[in-house]
Amino acid sequence: MSAGKRKRKSGNWARRQERDPFVRKARADGLRARAFFKLEQIDEKYRLIRPSTRLVDLGSAPGSWSQYAARKVADPGQVVAVDLLPMDSVPGVTFLQGDFTDQAVLEQVLTALDDTPLDLVLSDMAPNISGVRATDEARAEVLQDAVLGFCFRALRRGGVLLTKLFEGETATRMRRHMGEAFDHVQAIKPAASRARSREIYLLGRGFRGAPANQGDTR
Ligand SMILES: C[S@@+](CC[C@H](N)C(=O)[O-])C[C@H]1O[C@@H](n2cnc3c(N)ncnc32)[C@H](O)[C@@H]1O
Repeated sequence: MSAGKRKRKSGNWARRQERDPFVRKARADGLRARAFFKLEQIDEKYRLIRPSTRLVDLGSAPGSWSQYAARKVADPGQVVAVDLLPMDSVPGVTFLQGDFTDQAVLEQVLTALDDTPLDLVLSDMAPNISGVRATDEARAEVLQDAVLGFCFRALRRGGVLLTKLFEGETATRMRRHMGEAFDHVQAIKPAASRARSREIYLLGRGFRGAPANQGDTR
């Protein structure tokens, strides 16, 4: 892309940001990202988070989902957040920095959870986009495999998974895999998710637990 085109694109992005009502509201309310409203809208409709909910927030930085979760969860609930990037602390949230697809990081998350099963897995992780379709699908697939694999290790029977994807082959495949592991799976596009974005969320409810040949069957 030429320098001129890049400059125009970033100017358009900045103008869109300024006009976006969710960006303005996030600033006014001291929230770290407009993504706060996506989780809020999904939670208000599907009642995912209660005071006693034990949850992980995967791809948590800069921290608006953690801010939302921490406001709703109280003892004995728990919020553990993970990101590749650093994240300023959010009171009530245990943050771990690392690559969630790295087995050692996943084990650290399980340790932070004290091996107690989770009620809810949230993933807002997004891979770096290269612009090369096959590469981007492969990166997305690695992330979604890690998310679903984690559910088999840590999510209780009847538990819930909310995971972000971009419409495409990986989303289709993930929906099929979630269909085998959850009683109900649906695609959600909250109002705060930009209409022109291919972003969708898959919500799986009623986790069936790991099959006998797949790790921990708790
Ligand atoms: C859209 S942002 C999340 C925004 C966040 N939900 C919020 O409300 O502030 C996506 C995040 O996923 C993280 N991420 C992407 N791949 C990851 C990985 N393999 N492990 C951990 N975090 C990852 C990125 O670093 C980025 O901070």
